[in-house]
Amino acid sequence: MSAVLAAVDLTAGFPGAEPVLEDAAFAIPDGARLALLGPNGSGKTTLLRSLAGSLKPRQGQVVFRGEAVGFSRSALREHRRRVQLVAQDPDEQLFSADVMQDVSFGPLNLGLTDEEARARVDEALNLLGVTALAERPTHQLSYGERKRVAIAGAVAMRPQVLLLDEPTAGLDPAGVSELLATLAGLETTVVLATHDVDLALGWADEVAVVAGRRVRQGPPSMLGDAGLLGSVRLRMPWQLDLLHRLGVPASPLPRSVEDVARLLGAP
Ligand SMILES: Nc1ncnc2c1ncn2[C@@H]1O[C@H](COP(=O)(O)OP(=O)(O)O)[C@@H](O)[C@H]1O
Ligand SMILES: [Mg+2]
Repeated sequence: MSAVLAAVDLTAGFPGAEPVLEDAAFAIPDGARLALLGPNGSGKTTLLRSLAGSLKPRQGQVVFRGEAVGFSRSALREHRRRVQLVAQDPDEQLFSADVMQDVSFGPLNLGLTDEEARARVDEALNLLGVTALAERPTHQLSYGERKRVAIAGAVAMRPQVLLLDEPTAGLDPAGVSELLATLAGLETTVVLATHDVDLALGWADEVAVVAGRRVRQGPPSMLGDAGLLGSVRLRMPWQLDLLHRLGVPASPLPRSVEDVARLLGAP
């Protein structure tokens, strides 16, 4: 699989401080569902903002389908059509009076006709299950609803890559399951930053761990590497931890309770 979006020799950080990422390499396979893991403060948000073009690298490049992303206004405008970042805090994203206006803002700014924009907005509201909220003022919505609306705004742009910064943080368990099911139905490449290793194993087809200013990337089976996880202050996903303790090989790689039960011989 070729990379749709990549960081090459990326050094990124904030003025007056040591870099958060240094000579980091990261590549998002086209069509992947990629979980970006790391403890708090490791640099997940910094990496996502770099990839989205909202934080200019100190060194190195962000590459979209083989071409380095420029930082002129027009290059960034073009980049943001293709790559959409949804911030962890929905209130950073939502600023219009009601849900419909908020989700319409991006598509209308693309210069689409009202009709085309409306079709995209309806589709995004529907995909995120927030059609019934369309007329509601955004400030009246629950946290989980605001998160969904913020994601709908990004989906309405029909990006090729959707970068979601901790989209499940603050949601209740049913909200997390619903959101993951929704994301599974999207056709775009999705990167989801989280510190939840169980969720990563259950959902992702590729994982990456941000630690020590670098990014380690591999298949989800990487989450069975106790040495790697311990060195970056993450624990093993429960699915693999349990099998490991029981001496049962984690193959095929279990993702759900049902998978684990099957490996343990439950009917
Ligand atoms: N705007 C900022 N200015 C200065 N330092 C920042 C800023 N944002 C983040 N940092 C620092 O950069 C490091 C990485 O942060 P971040 O990328 O937000 O980590 P994560 O998303 O993995 O929790 C942290 O040490 C954090 O304090
Ligand atoms: Mg963060």
